[in-house]
Amino acid sequence: MTETISVIGAGMIGGAIVKSLLKSGYAGKILATDSQPERIRAMEELGVSALRDNRKAAAEADIVFVCVKPGDVEKVLKEISKEIAGKLVISTAATVPLKFYKQIAPDAKFVRIMPNIAVMVQASYTAYCCGENVTQEDKKKVKALLDMMGICEEIDEKYMDAITALTGSGPGYLSIIIEALMYAGLKVGLPRNVALYGAAQAVLGTGKLVLELQEHPARIKDMVTTPNGTTIEAIYQLEGSSIRQSLMRAVEEAAKKSQRIREMLGMPQ
Ligand SMILES: NC(=O)c1ccc[n+]([C@@H]2O[C@H](COP(=O)([O-])OP(=O)(O)OC[C@H]3O[C@@H](n4cnc5c(N)ncnc54)[C@H](OP(=O)(O)O)[C@@H]3O)[C@@H](O)[C@H]2O)c1
Repeated sequence: MTETISVIGAGMIGGAIVKSLLKSGYAGKILATDSQPERIRAMEELGVSALRDNRKAAAEADIVFVCVKPGDVEKVLKEISKEIAGKLVISTAATVPLKFYKQIAPDAKFVRIMPNIAVMVQASYTAYCCGENVTQEDKKKVKALLDMMGICEEIDEKYMDAITALTGSGPGYLSIIIEALMYAGLKVGLPRNVALYGAAQAVLGTGKLVLELQEHPARIKDMVTTPNGTTIEAIYQLEGSSIRQSLMRAVEEAAKKSQRIREMLGMPQ
């Protein structure tokens, strides 16, 4: 692909998208905008054309990524609505429904995506849903771009709050688990780095077993559990805790919050 891409809002996720495209050797031109001078400087240091003018960036682009907070989406869209007419616009904003984008810029072709911060290391799970006027050819481009950031899957828009809560926020929950395992390692006498990176690699490796071998987690649990062994002692403790229910509650509350934010912003459900 050689299309010019503009990323509006080079913050945490917009900046990660830029880095991910660069790492993948994206062949087209990349521009980025932000309202914070230090973020513009960070983009320039990466060799990206960085500017403060969203209109100019949108006018130059074939494909526009909108990576601002949900409450800033309306302002940005109003600002660039003429420049994005007929163009593919990919927004990372949580909670904002496709209907809302369409109301503000009816002539653009919107794709709503939910990546996670692992875009930074090209290991995101990115779910996406497309507006009605997004063509098959556009969808191929979207997939090609998202594949550079990890793996992606098109889903029905009705699942976006749930996926935001599960995979968008997922690195937050798993960081707590990795941190807790690191402290567990310290408790049994491991050096700090061995405990931290060992715990992180155990999480990564387990994820790979599920994804690459298509194994159910229960089967992986079986594979590591021997009669009268060490793992069953640990699993016995975990099964007596509320770890499963806590994770379910956490994801459920995050999904509800996504809905509440939409209500607060006065956006259609
Ligand atoms: N962080 C994640 O893990 C994650 C994951 C999935 C989806 N998302 C979504 O991605 C979006 C961005 O999240 P984030 O965490 O990357 O936020 P962030 O770090 O705050 O980045 C947004 C950037 O956009 C800038 N900005 C605001 N208004 C602008 C404007 N009019 N023109 C140009 N730049 C503007 C912000 O500057 P100011 O700070 O000055 O406003 C900020 O630097 C959100 O909608 C969020 O729901 C985030």
